[in-house]
Amino acid sequence: MSDFVIERVKTGIPGLDELIEGGFPKGDTILLAGRAGTGKSIMANQFLYNGATEYDEPGVLVTLEESPHLIKRNMMRFGMDLDALVKKKKLAIVDLSPSKEATPMKIGEYPSFDLSGLEAIILNHVKKLGAKRVVIDTLAILAYKFRSRDILREEFFKLAANITRADTTLILTSEIQSQHDGLGVFDIEAFLASGVIVLYNEMISETSRSRSIEVLKLRGSKHSSRIHSMRITDEGIRVWPAEISTGV
Ligand SMILES: Nc1ncnc2c1ncn2[C@@H]1O[C@H](COP(=O)(O)OP(=O)(O)OP(=O)(O)O)[C@@H](O)[C@H]1O
Ligand SMILES: [Mg+2]
Repeated sequence: MSDFVIERVKTGIPGLDELIEGGFPKGDTILLAGRAGTGKSIMANQFLYNGATEYDEPGVLVTLEESPHLIKRNMMRFGMDLDALVKKKKLAIVDLSPSKEATPMKIGEYPSFDLSGLEAIILNHVKKLGAKRVVIDTLAILAYKFRSRDILREEFFKLAANITRADTTLILTSEIQSQHDGLGVFDIEAFLASGVIVLYNEMISETSRSRSIEVLKLRGSKHSSRIHSMRITDEGIRVWPAEISTGV
C-alpha cells in the first residue's frame, strides 16, 4: 500500500465507521469527549472488544476510574465478555482505579507516578499481546498530578507519541464538566489528538433526553460535519448515520 494512503482502523460500532471514511486513521490519537454518562467508556470498550473479536487486533485498556470488575460486568450486559478476551490474551486491563478501601482523594493528592512508568507498563502489554488498540479511560485523572500546563502537555504528548509510534491507535476519554469547559478538564488532550469525537445526551423536552454523536475533527478525513443520533441498545452503542439529531 502506498505511504500516502491512510489505513483505517474499523471501530465496528454500527453506523460510526460510515461517518469517518471507514474508521480511525491507523496509529492516530482520538479524543472521546462528553459529559458524565454520555457513553464514553462503553464506546471505548466496544472499540477494544470489536478489535479483538472481529479484526484480530488485540487491545490494552488502562482504567483510572472504574474497577475492572465493574467494567466487565457492565460490558457483559451488551454480550461483550471482556474476561474471556483477557483469558485468550486478546485484551489486557491495566488497573489504576482507586481501590474500594482507599478514601477518595482530593485534587492534588493523587499518588504520584511518573508517566514514563505508565508508558512502560502500557508498552509492555502492547508488546506481549501484539496490541493494535489502546484506551486510556480517563486521562483527566492523571492531569491533576501536574502543576504546570506546560509539563502536562509535554508529558501527555510524549505518552501518546510513544504509544502510537508502532501504529497502535490510541483512544483517550475526557469528561466535559460544563458548556464552557472546552473539551476536557484541561483541554490539552485535544492538542495531541488528531481526532475528536463528542458524545451528547441532551434534554429534548422536559421529560426526555436524546443521545447523539459529533465528529468534531479527524485529520486527513472527509468526515461528517453533522450531529447524528446515537443509542445505547442491548448490543451496545449504535449510531444512525442517515438520521440527523435535532436534540442539540
Ligand atoms: N444496558 C444499558 N442499556 C442502555 N443504556 C445503558 C446501559 N448501560 C449503561 N447505559 C447508559 O450508559 C451510561 C453510562 O455510560 P458510560 O459509562 O460509557 O458513560 P461515560 O461517558 O463513560 O461516563 P463517565 O464520564 O461518568 O465515566 C449510563 O448512565 C446509562 O445511561
Ligand atoms: Mg466513563
